[in-house]
Amino acid sequence: MSQKPINLLEYESLAKQHLDKMALDYYASGALDEKTLIENRSAFDRYKILPKMLRGVSQRDLSTTILGQSLSAPILIAPMAFQCLADTRGELATATAAVKLDLGMVLSTLSTKSLEEVANYGKKLWFQLYIHRDRNLTRTLVERAEQAGYQALCVTVDAPILGVRECDRRNQFTLPPHLEIANLTSMKNLKIPQTKGESGLYEYFATQLDPGLTWQDLEWLASITKLPIAVKGILRADDAITARECGAKAIIVSNHGGRQLDGAIATIDALGEITAAVGDKIEVLVDGGIRRGTDILKALARGAKAVLIGRPILWGLAVSGEQGVADILSILIQELDNAMALSGCAKLQDVAANLIKQL
Ligand code: GLV
Repeated sequence: MSQKPINLLEYESLAKQHLDKMALDYYASGALDEKTLIENRSAFDRYKILPKMLRGVSQRDLSTTILGQSLSAPILIAPMAFQCLADTRGELATATAAVKLDLGMVLSTLSTKSLEEVANYGKKLWFQLYIHRDRNLTRTLVERAEQAGYQALCVTVDAPILGVRECDRRNQFTLPPHLEIANLTSMKNLKIPQTKGESGLYEYFATQLDPGLTWQDLEWLASITKLPIAVKGILRADDAITARECGAKAIIVSNHGGRQLDGAIATIDALGEITAAVGDKIEVLVDGGIRRGTDILKALARGAKAVLIGRPILWGLAVSGEQGVADILSILIQELDNAMALSGCAKLQDVAANLIKQL
């Protein structure tokens, strides 16, 4: 491909030429047979748009407010680990691109730049938290995020242990020596280990993260922070209700990009029941398989307030760093704007449930 990519799928193809095998496999793969990874995308095809005509769409407004933060469009960058595998500036480049487009970014606990450094570049930042066995370390991470100006915590609940990603096992995934888990190496000298016949990240989760977490730990988290909490990894209405009861202000309907439980429901399918149960009481966001503006439109029609974009950001980062991430975000905004105009929606509130039909 000699020309600049014009959509997310073209970025993905090109990114494959820019990444070494261990990094590409780590970013791209899902758990086991990758059925959920594939379903996250293909499920969108079952939802058809019923466009409305003659609605006066000359002025369109995509802006929204999520957890009190205004965004130019209902899009945030999903938390993704180890972004320096794609680009030397890694998370700093991603954060700068998010600022350029006035969108949100969720920084992973497992970032390769420290949360403080990223805060020097980013604006509308949330911090994704993995609750470690060491609760003092976890508490310190929360305090550091608060002090650095992060505006929400996003606690991931779908990873009591890591999903089995066979490519990472085969590659014995670990970080190259020049990279570190910047938030943790500095504090406790924690590292992604080198493990024979196993992914080092799998080993890290097994030894450092707490599979004993319960809803009480969410209440504990809510009790130690003033930041609003978004719970990421919800796929059932009853869990969404419990998350709210335990103090969450938002949930992210997510199956971790198909990287945890293979066979789990596609997120666009899970969304309907969840928004019906809690959509008016808590902010509901969704991620997984979103590659086109029409996918965002469908997610909004299913009741999501915003979407998170994961792997495509890494593809942009791998192809051309900050500019690549900015391009990915601009393309999605333009495509959403186009889809809204063509379906008779001048603003996000016009994207109602009756805009789509499930076949
Ligand atoms: C880390 O959170 C991963 O899914 O690899």
